Amino acid sequence: FPVENIRNFSIIAHVDHGKSTLADRLLEITGMWHVTECNKQVLDKLQVERERGITVKAQTASLFYNHQGQTYLLNLIDTPGHVDFSYEVSRSISACQGVLLIVDANQGIQAQTVANFYLAFEAQLTIIPVLNKIDLKNADPERVESQIEKVFDIPKEDCIRISAKMGTNVDQVLEEIVKRIPPPAARTEDPFKALVFDSTFDHYRGVVTNIALFGGQVSKGDRIMSAHMGKVYEVNEVGVLRPEEHPTDRLYAGQVGFMIAGMKEVKEAQIGDTLFHQKHPVEALPGFKPAKPMVFAGMYPMDQSEYNSLRSAVERLTLNDSSVTVQRDSSHALGAGWRLGFLGLLHMEVFNQRLEQEYNASVIVTAPTVPYKAILSSAKLIKAGPVPSTEEPVHLTPKHFHLIFLILYQEHGGKEITIVNPAQFPDRSVVSEYLEPMVMGTIITPDDFIGKIMTLCLGHRGVQKNVVYIDNQRVMMKYLFPLNEVIVDFYDHLKSLSSGYARQDTVYAGYQPAELVKMDILLNGKSVEELTMVVHKDRAYAAGKALCERLKDCIPRQLFEIAVQAAVGSKVIARETIKAYRKNVLAKCYGGDITRKMKLLKKQAEGKKKMRRIGNVEVPKDAFISVLKRK
Ligand code: GTP
Repeated sequence: FPVENIRNFSIIAHVDHGKSTLADRLLEITGMWHVTECNKQVLDKLQVERERGITVKAQTASLFYNHQGQTYLLNLIDTPGHVDFSYEVSRSISACQGVLLIVDANQGIQAQTVANFYLAFEAQLTIIPVLNKIDLKNADPERVESQIEKVFDIPKEDCIRISAKMGTNVDQVLEEIVKRIPPPAARTEDPFKALVFDSTFDHYRGVVTNIALFGGQVSKGDRIMSAHMGKVYEVNEVGVLRPEEHPTDRLYAGQVGFMIAGMKEVKEAQIGDTLFHQKHPVEALPGFKPAKPMVFAGMYPMDQSEYNSLRSAVERLTLNDSSVTVQRDSSHALGAGWRLGFLGLLHMEVFNQRLEQEYNASVIVTAPTVPYKAILSSAKLIKAGPVPSTEEPVHLTPKHFHLIFLILYQEHGGKEITIVNPAQFPDRSVVSEYLEPMVMGTIITPDDFIGKIMTLCLGHRGVQKNVVYIDNQRVMMKYLFPLNEVIVDFYDHLKSLSSGYARQDTVYAGYQPAELVKMDILLNGKSVEELTMVVHKDRAYAAGKALCERLKDCIPRQLFEIAVQAAVGSKVIARETIKAYRKNVLAKCYGGDITRKMKLLKKQAEGKKKMRRIGNVEVPKDAFISVLKRK
């Protein structure tokens, strides 16, 4: 296929602005697909994606389009729709020369539209603005076109008004793709060079990678190598996507397709990596970086007997998602489990949901935390206590971690370490500076809510960076937040106080120094490691108080009084008391039926097995679940 007749493009949009609907319509018009109820939105495959209405894994399709007597090959590269996946978006975008930037003609520019625009703009792609849903009665394309001109500096006249649902003007979109987007600058005569922009795992065939050829050609039997992983593979199969796989003899420069080459794990096919012929090495394409997890949480089977089946489910899911990191972990109360790292909170929720739906697993997930950094101090000499002996149980307590850090400090004074488990947060005495990850949030809202939103942002330690009107009612605000402050409930608050109108999107913005403290939760003086948190020093009191109150409600009264305390170092900052009480299980038994009494006593003893002992306090296992569960 002549390279001049190839166009590679993506569709980018805010959630629900109609990306999948337009993709379906393009497939339908070019005759690749007849849209029926059951194959609607073929590009969003996974069940979770259907339910949440978001695209998680990129899907790709090649279309043929006839225009003025010529046949064009249009490669539609579908991108994930959420910021958690912005690295994947930026990689799939870099396989293209242009994008369709969809904006809902009723809702106008939203936070994610802005974030996605900049990804495409930075990659220097042709941007075609498309106003969708003009069939809606409240659509106001004039106003939205002015927003596009004001915010993106794109002339109004460049916008195409469509209704993806009705099919209005969709053919014009195809025409403009051919006219405005340049063909890829790839030559078949050059050595083979391809970008990996997606990969999935298939149980029978191994890893299937989606590639865009920047030069040369590739066919079955070729020996290829990956630039960053540095491994050699033999190509077993290549082909095009329509969007289902169609094997072909060869893929040529400018084309987009799939390849199977004996890779066993998706980790071997890192998104953004470059492939070339083993005998003809080329310079790697720019922009590669391994995906970095930013949200961590402990995950434990609801019942320890399910540990093995959960392990195999986690293994299978991570085969398909190389951006999840897995470390073994264990806890007194919750048993053996893992500490998992995700790209963001949505990524974590999608992962949990897939575990539950596809593998029928039931899990306890601890409160999410972000990767903090600490620079170990090098000046003072610190006396390390006795190192834990090997006879002690394998389970490490916070005290042991403290000792390990002391040793680390002595070996690595001045070094920077990353902490993903709050229980392992090093003490201030060995640290010269703590750092926390930051995000830049873009919020777009009707101006009535500005005051309330500013208060909310301030309450989450946000620092205002910019406020502009994008039309006469809507405001775009930029805030710098600590990631920790926005991962859990910020977005829900934002939505509820603005009646659902305000939208926010975040991008990572590096690390900043912060006065952080480790807060321990104590039951009658004994620390409950699973509930240890890292908080900003100014927030410790409120967070400690809230946690103590919740814990008080979850632990049943016992024979003695229980103190529930939050402490920073040796200082107690919050306290609740659970009053003493004795549950008399025999109270309901009148008369002398001894077997009935025995039964009840036995039942009580069994109930106790489900309790965990922390110091002298019996804590029901589900107390942890209720406290850890996010509201
Ligand atoms: P993500 O996959 O999450 O990015 O969402 P999306 O952008 O793909 O949105 P999708 O195509 O799923 O459309 C969202 C909703 O808008 C659906 O209910 C569509 O039926 C509806 N929709 C899409 N295009 C139009 C349109 O032109 N007019 C009207 N009235 N509704 C539309």
